[in-house]
Amino acid sequence: MADPDGPLKLSAEPLLSAAAIQERIEELAAQINADYAGAEEIVLLVVLKGAVVFAADLGRRLTMPLRWEFVRAKSYQGAQSTGHVDYRRITDPELQGRHVLVVEDILDTGRTTQKLRSRLEEENPASVALCTLLDKPGQRLVPAAAEYVGFTIGPKFVVGYGLDHDERYRELPAVYTLVG
Ligand code: IMP
Ligand code: MG
Repeated sequence: MADPDGPLKLSAEPLLSAAAIQERIEELAAQINADYAGAEEIVLLVVLKGAVVFAADLGRRLTMPLRWEFVRAKSYQGAQSTGHVDYRRITDPELQGRHVLVVEDILDTGRTTQKLRSRLEEENPASVALCTLLDKPGQRLVPAAAEYVGFTIGPKFVVGYGLDHDERYRELPAVYTLVG
């Protein structure tokens, strides 16, 4: 599929097929269900926009009661990290004393996660854990890690399954690399 606006194109084959993603989400959900067994309710804090597809699939496989809440974090323009994280609360959950599971699309430089975690800790939640679909550990500029990682990938820019390039490709059911 060609990008009509520029020279970047989707890879012919997906990096991660729709089936592989769903299979991995089953495993992640089983792990999270075991780790939170007995928790009466957790706050599923979805980081917009990229994590929305992943969160919909993951959340429906979790067995504990969830409160769905949303924040917006934006640090990319096109395929470049701007270095500045624009963070905005979309819903206004009470986090004090609650177990918070942050759902992210991808951990890249680590800036978004670092900023989000420090903001969340200010509200004294009972716990904060991060579940990210993708992790690019080779890209880290600040220390950041996720408790739950779907797939560890190389430094290439990827789109699909919620991830965008300038707001496009989020609806693709698989993850593709952009090739120039
Ligand atoms: P970080 O703050 O650099 O870790 O960036 C995390 C955010 O950058 C993610 O939530 C994405 O929105 C965006 N991002 C990083 N790498 C990619 C990519 O390969 N494809 C699409 N978005 C990405
Ligand atoms: Mg993005």
